[in-house]
Amino acid sequence: MSERFYSDARLYDRLFPGGEPAVDFYRAEADRQGGRVLELGCGTGHKLIPIASDGHPCTGLELSSDMLTEAQRKADERAIAVEWVQGDMRDFDLGRTFDLVFVAANSLLHLHEAADLLRCFRSVRAHLAPGARFIFDVFNPNVRVLADADGVRRTRDALSFVDPDRGDVRVDVAETYDAAAQVTRGTWHFSADSEPDFLVAPLELRSIFPQELPLLLSLAGLRLVERFGDWSGRPFTGDAAIQLCVCESD
Ligand SMILES: C[S@@+](CC[C@H](N)C(=O)[O-])C[C@H]1O[C@@H](n2cnc3c(N)ncnc32)[C@H](O)[C@@H]1O
Repeated sequence: MSERFYSDARLYDRLFPGGEPAVDFYRAEADRQGGRVLELGCGTGHKLIPIASDGHPCTGLELSSDMLTEAQRKADERAIAVEWVQGDMRDFDLGRTFDLVFVAANSLLHLHEAADLLRCFRSVRAHLAPGARFIFDVFNPNVRVLADADGVRRTRDALSFVDPDRGDVRVDVAETYDAAAQVTRGTWHFSADSEPDFLVAPLELRSIFPQELPLLLSLAGLRLVERFGDWSGRPFTGDAAIQLCVCESD
């Protein structure tokens, strides 16, 4: 449902150029673990290319061919070797294990059904070497924000950016929240002065509430060993923006 959102990988990178604390966090974890690294939903390699540049053997699994092509281009440009695999994190078999498996930047929230999350977690578990860690970050659902999702199209000034071809790009988003499915259904509008709505793309993200998360993991034979609320390692609390989860095999 969100494929179109990832159909212009360069635009995606311009929309979300930052995230250095997250890159630093996953880099440090790769250093700590040593050995092979696997990222699921690796996008254009925002985290994986820096980790590979530190000398770790890296594999990136990604559903979108557009995102993968851009990841490959960026890695080639820097002469950094990464194994890029087109695949679905809900069910994959790479035939070997890894010392760190991670899913960054809410990618897991593209799996809406509990059954899909379970299939993903079971696939992850099968790819964990002894002593390996599985780490992911997802947002912490904020009930006020979810309740405010009224379907009205609004400009998000903080997300505007400059595109070399189109000039200033404005981003408008209209969102509703489907409480039964726990899914926020958004429509993202990208507009330039000369080209209003040059891209209109749905983006649908599930909420994983704090109490269901360890249960889903345990059903797949994984244990939540630490949960942080930010990139500096502050313990998770109800008002935290993210759930940064560190897991091991049971
Ligand atoms: C928010 S982006 C994050 C990209 C990257 N991890 C980062 O930190 O910049 C989510 C990515 O997950 C990918 N994705 C969504 N569903 C997927 C699935 N079932 N299997 C593999 N990748 C998926 C999308 O195509 C997209 O590239």
